[in-house]
Amino acid sequence: MSVAQVGPVRTRGIGEPMPRVEARDKVTGHAPYAVDHPVPGAVYAWPVQAAFAKGRVTSVDTSPALAVDGVLTVLWHANAPRLQPAGDPGMLVLQGPEIRFHGQIVALVVATSLESAREGADAVVVHARIEPADTVLRTDHPGLYHPEVVNAGYVGSTAVGDFDAGFEDAPVRVDATYRTPAEHHNPMEPHATTAFWERGHLVVFDSSQSSSTVKDTLAGLFELPPQLVRVVNEHVGGGFGSKGTARVNAVLAAMASRQVGRPVKLAMTRKMLFSTVGYRTPTIQRIRLGADLDGRLVAIAHDAVSQTSKIAEFVEQSAVISRIMYAAPNRATSHRVVALDVPPPIWMRAPGESPGSFALESAIDELAVAGGWDPVRLRIDNDTRTDPEEGMPFSSRHLVECLREGAERFGWEGRDPRPAIRREGQWLIGTGVAASTFPAITWPSTATVRATADDHFDVEVNGADIGTGARTVLRQIAADALGVALPCVEITVGDSDIGPAPVAGGSMGTSSWGWAVTKACRLVRERIDRDFHGRVPSEGVAVRADTTPEVSSREPYARHAFGAQFCEVRVDAYTGEIRVGRLLGMFAAGRIVNPTTARSQLLGGMTMGLSMALLEQSIMDSRTGDYVTDDLASYHVAVNADVPRIEVGWLDEDDPHLNPMGSKGIGELGIVGTAAAVANAVYHATGIRVRKLPITIADLL
Ligand code: MOS
Repeated sequence: MSVAQVGPVRTRGIGEPMPRVEARDKVTGHAPYAVDHPVPGAVYAWPVQAAFAKGRVTSVDTSPALAVDGVLTVLWHANAPRLQPAGDPGMLVLQGPEIRFHGQIVALVVATSLESAREGADAVVVHARIEPADTVLRTDHPGLYHPEVVNAGYVGSTAVGDFDAGFEDAPVRVDATYRTPAEHHNPMEPHATTAFWERGHLVVFDSSQSSSTVKDTLAGLFELPPQLVRVVNEHVGGGFGSKGTARVNAVLAAMASRQVGRPVKLAMTRKMLFSTVGYRTPTIQRIRLGADLDGRLVAIAHDAVSQTSKIAEFVEQSAVISRIMYAAPNRATSHRVVALDVPPPIWMRAPGESPGSFALESAIDELAVAGGWDPVRLRIDNDTRTDPEEGMPFSSRHLVECLREGAERFGWEGRDPRPAIRREGQWLIGTGVAASTFPAITWPSTATVRATADDHFDVEVNGADIGTGARTVLRQIAADALGVALPCVEITVGDSDIGPAPVAGGSMGTSSWGWAVTKACRLVRERIDRDFHGRVPSEGVAVRADTTPEVSSREPYARHAFGAQFCEVRVDAYTGEIRVGRLLGMFAAGRIVNPTTARSQLLGGMTMGLSMALLEQSIMDSRTGDYVTDDLASYHVAVNADVPRIEVGWLDEDDPHLNPMGSKGIGELGIVGTAAAVANAVYHATGIRVRKLPITIADLL
């Protein structure tokens, strides 16, 4: 498997750079988002939120709201339609008096205009009994426990060999604790839903990463046969995990529409997102590394602490990355979590790997400093051919090649490892490196193809294009599998009526949906050739494919994408201002289906990683459990001025053990390791090791 190897087929779509199919619709305002759909007679809903973290709503005085012109109804737990448990327990909204986090929705005002709904919501008076809240994550919290299973189904703790003995005997050691803050997703399009009931059917336009999941959850909550629920998410303005499952906006809109008998539109404000749709938990992670005198790791331990809510358990799998990144005979990982009076955390871009890589890859840098080893070399020397805990071979693993090629392009060679010695005027300059990885996940999916007599193919797959270019790459995959030119293929995504398909999350979309599209296209081609001598009959030919058999019978391999991130920072010697000068990422993620959209995904991930390194943090008022940095003025994300030259590259990887396209996911890989690369560069520039995020001026003074 050489670095320059080209994938097997490079014609008719796969591997070609393509702009997004819907680009023009988006920039001209023709792409309808969840509340843009023109629905006659629609009314508007506005939530009322609890201003305390723990207690009970004793009564709600709705009369001042009902007196507002245009207000139709005020729902709260005494009069809201009953829901059956389904999916996330946090979806059981307005079902009881208990308040378990600040910002929990306690009432919903429905009115004939958005303005009236908002005015009505302001007028609602909520009476409550407020109790002291437990909101602060700490490593000595008596409520901490070891969950058996953490997010994505990983076991909570693992042990291989004898960590304590291995660490004890190691001549070079690192024992350090790293902290990452709570972070919020902030997609461009806040969560929003239009819902209406039509002859017993529930129809929902939802800003979601998975219409199949929302459909199933709503069917369960409202006790409907699933075929009576349709969820459409034709265009979605970003997600990052916060739209991966049904959120309260969809539930409330459906509930309100049933109550008032009219279509309801509910658009969350950005402020509301900071308490109602999830966030990344803060983490406290201890890493212990032991190496021999040659720079071989003999012991790795990663112990992660995070918070969850009283409503639903979510455990960020931060220590999982240390199970596969490097070889070492003695290893241990663990997760501990505590349920606090806080909003439920949820997936956020590379849950686990993202904060986990900050800790692990910072610690590897510390080990390099402690042992006097080059940090690129140290990583290469500790590479592994098999999953170091499971013993399973990797389907493909090109971390070493990424490190080598990245170092070459970045100009790493000849780097003086001594910290705080390079200076240009007032700027201290440093460089850092970190490794990146993310699992290559595939789930079963369905897809449908209809061929018409004029050699046109309508391909339907219920993927979600959340701005990634999913429908574009799926069209390329379809054209490739059919052996036709792109204009012969029409692609439809984003409608639960198409059939079951997995979430646009876990970086599994292209792999999962693309496999189903490939299967359906190959089947329709076969049928046309076999039954109709290669000519599509006038009535057309339709085929539906389901990849459950293929996906569930794959050979056992450790399937992961890898990468290496390089960073140059400049730190003002007088003020401590940190500027990232350069970021370079080299990735190995199977076959790249579309270089244009792939580059954009990796660039976006790296930008979000830079943002995480230097800017993003949700600050809570511990007395009220309120994340107070609840707008883009106080919750800082990287803007163009923060983003330097970012170079994105990849190695073509020919991996036959993935899916028919040979692709690995790329949505999350780019954010993994970036923050550590920045932190390691900050150390190199200043000699100051910052073990928390974001790294700010105050940390360097
Ligand atoms: Mo992503 S956090 O898997 O939507």
